[in-house]
Amino acid sequence: MTQHRGKFITLEGIEGTGKSTNVRYIQEWLSARGREAIVTREPGGTPMAEEIRDVLLRPRQESVSPDAELLLMFAARAQHLHGVIKPGLDSGKDVLCDRFTDATYAYQGGGRQLGMQPIAVLETLVQGDFRPDLCVLLTIDPAQGMARARARGSLDRFEQEAIGFYERIQHTYLERAKRSPQAYLVIDAGLPLHTVQDAISEGLEAFFSR
Ligand code: TMP
Repeated sequence: MTQHRGKFITLEGIEGTGKSTNVRYIQEWLSARGREAIVTREPGGTPMAEEIRDVLLRPRQESVSPDAELLLMFAARAQHLHGVIKPGLDSGKDVLCDRFTDATYAYQGGGRQLGMQPIAVLETLVQGDFRPDLCVLLTIDPAQGMARARARGSLDRFEQEAIGFYERIQHTYLERAKRSPQAYLVIDAGLPLHTVQDAISEGLEAFFSR
């Protein structure tokens, strides 16, 4: 019997959009429909990639080169694809990933202003033509998102950035979603949680009935 490949679903959004809560919601939604999902995250998802995550997120005195940051994101991603994402999909499971390459376009391309070209080059190198089947993009007013993130406590290296960084990131995410609407489910995460989750559920129903 041929094994069907699972679906690769990513969740994206700036800080404070409630990604973790909604990752759990999507996992339960899939499980209630008899689909088994591997839940993972980027940067990270394997022991080596989690070590790279620590390097990337730790606040430090040294100024970090945006190119070094970009290359580390893709180093972690290459390991994650090799060790978790591709084997998981090949075994027939869905893979639900908290952030993927859309985050690199948004944070390094938009936020750090590296532009889209270097990311597209590395994307092809590391992924070939592998792309998410669906990206759930949560949006929020950046000031509201930052306030939520700050209320959680100590801030990582990215969370210490100014509001303009997050405005550029969200703008880049939305531009990408506008260009390929069939690949994105864009949800306003500023709405009450039950409304957000109803919209996610409706979007997933539509995606799985395509
Ligand atoms: P989070 O998973 O807890 O949101 O933290 C990961 C941080 O790393 C977040 O601030 C976004 C950032 N990031 C990038 O800048 N580029 C990337 O490609 C990925 C996956 C994450």
